[in-house]
Amino acid sequence: MDRENEVRVWDPFVRIFHWGLAGAFLLAFVVEDHNLAIHSWAGYTALALVALRLPWGLVGPRHARFSDFVRAPREAFAYAGRALIGRAERHLGHNPAGGLMIVALLAAVPLLALSGMAALAVEEGAGPMAGLLAGLGHRGGEWIGEVHEFLANATMALVGIHVAGVLVESLVHRENLVRSMITGRKRRLDASEREATEPASPDRPGPRVSH
Ligand code: HEM
Ligand code: HEM
Repeated sequence: MDRENEVRVWDPFVRIFHWGLAGAFLLAFVVEDHNLAIHSWAGYTALALVALRLPWGLVGPRHARFSDFVRAPREAFAYAGRALIGRAERHLGHNPAGGLMIVALLAAVPLLALSGMAALAVEEGAGPMAGLLAGLGHRGGEWIGEVHEFLANATMALVGIHVAGVLVESLVHRENLVRSMITGRKRRLDASEREATEPASPDRPGPRVSH
């Protein structure tokens, strides 16, 4: 695509974070407990990446900020409904439905990693929580492994919906969002798209101004 018609949307940190998180999560999921060293280090990597992403959501550039894309769930579901019938407005940053999914994923991954550390502590007596959970013993803590497994599958279900959402959105707006998450660039909003998504400014009254 013509680079003149594109703008930078995702900064390098967001892109490295995203593909690092996707890789670490999928690696941990595939390896399961067959190789606990690789499994737990992939899980710690995912946790560390989310821990770095949270402050970036407060101080990072415009489209990395939570204030740019976290909306009320009602708005997110309304947007998803419009996307499914091909009538959703195009956003330069994350759309409201994507924003809700990002919040869900950023909450699910740390819970999953913490439950994994707890499972490692009770089943193997190892890892950072070993001392803390020593009192539970192997049998008393069996349920923690079940919780970890449930959270792993629930998070994978979220990831499936996330990727399906990316594909639907790419089709609705005829743009390749996966490529954008690699290059950081997206097609500019044209004037009518800008009107539909951006708040009013003094030189350009937008649709939210009422007289
Ligand atoms: C390999 C399959 C995946 C693909 C193709 C994919 C694709 C994408 C794309 C295109 C975006 C940007 C969406 C937009 O334009 O608004 C995105 C954002 C995001 N994805 Fe994925 N994703 C994948 C896997 C994952 C996994 C496994 C996770 C987490 C466990 C994840 C978590 C996120 C998060 C947190 C964001 C927001 C990025 C940010 O602003 O920091 N993704 N993904
Ligand atoms: C965040 C990404 C992670 C994912 C996607 C993930 C996923 C999984 C999956 C699918 C299993 C197999 C469950 C089963 O069928 O029994 C498993 C087991 C296990 N995971 Fe994780 N895990 C993650 C993080 C961690 C971390 C950070 C640790 C420890 C430091 C950990 C420790 C364990 C242990 C000890 C088991 C065996 C549990 C049992 O047999 O009851 N996991 N994990």
